[in-house]
Amino acid sequence: MGAAVGGWPVLSAMAWGSRVQSVGRGAGGGGAASRLCPKSGTVAALGIGLGNGTTRMNALIVGGTAGIGRAVAVALARRGENVVITGRNAERTAGIAREIGLGVTGLALDLTRPLEVAAALAGLGQVDHLVLAAIERDQNSVRNYDVARALSLVTMKLVGYTEVVHTLLPRMTPATSIVLLGGQAKNRPYPGSITVSTVNGGVESMVRALAVELAPIRVTALHPGIVSDTDSWSGKPQVLDAARAGTLTGRLATTDDVARATLFLLDNPAINGVNLDLEGGRLLK
Ligand SMILES: NC(=O)c1ccc[n+]([C@@H]2O[C@H](COP(=O)([O-])OP(=O)(O)OC[C@H]3O[C@@H](n4cnc5c(N)ncnc54)[C@H](OP(=O)(O)O)[C@@H]3O)[C@@H](O)[C@H]2O)c1
Repeated sequence: MGAAVGGWPVLSAMAWGSRVQSVGRGAGGGGAASRLCPKSGTVAALGIGLGNGTTRMNALIVGGTAGIGRAVAVALARRGENVVITGRNAERTAGIAREIGLGVTGLALDLTRPLEVAAALAGLGQVDHLVLAAIERDQNSVRNYDVARALSLVTMKLVGYTEVVHTLLPRMTPATSIVLLGGQAKNRPYPGSITVSTVNGGVESMVRALAVELAPIRVTALHPGIVSDTDSWSGKPQVLDAARAGTLTGRLATTDDVARATLFLLDNPAINGVNLDLEGGRLLK
């Protein structure tokens, strides 16, 4: 675990110490980090890939083998970032990375085992963009409560996401940005969503706490409603029709919509500590 890094620079502990400014030392300009990171305000700093090799940011997409995470990985790789995706199985993840192409590489990581996260990520160098999108959906209810499944999802999204940030913090710079995926189950529970609703509510609070603790690193979250072309929902036309009818726009978000919103949150230097709903105005109807 933690070995397949491909084009992303892997720093030894010694190289790390000499090349990358720890965020703990403050954002006060100059220093080693300014040689490594794009200057604020340049096109590259806004994450608009130049495609000429001038700036290649490093992006880690946790839960990048499928659905939203995969769409974000493709979008970031297309604009020229060095992208590493994670999934639970090393071989499968490497295969999906090869399938995506664009220099994307894979890494095995299981967030239900947070004590193993540090070892899994040991091979990575500087992190400019971090997207936390992993989930293993838990159909659960209070009346038929499956404690093992609930523990797994709570560990993954609340402890696991936090442990990834904790582990990578020394490899972040003041310009690093982080996006977490929550979801509208926090506002609109559905039958079987007790754990999903709970953890997505936790993500909402976590984002604010992370933004305060990690400043000037920016931390935001995206909370889509039903994303119509994901494996979770695409085969459920009745659910999709009902959800669509509940929106003001008459359409549901797609993975492409979510990927574009993620890039906006990663890039825009003025947005921080925000939980962005992406649900076509459903909450207003
Ligand atoms: N789909 C929606 O409609 C929707 C709506 C609102 C919010 N969201 C949120 O958006 C995010 C992505 O959802 P999605 O539907 O696109 O997910 P998905 O297609 O089910 O993909 C889940 C990803 O998480 C990884 N994963 C699963 N278990 C893991 C574990 N124990 N440790 C680490 N990684 C694990 C999977 O990798 P492997 O299977 O390869 O291991 C995969 O890459 C989630 O946070 C979800 O809550 C989704």
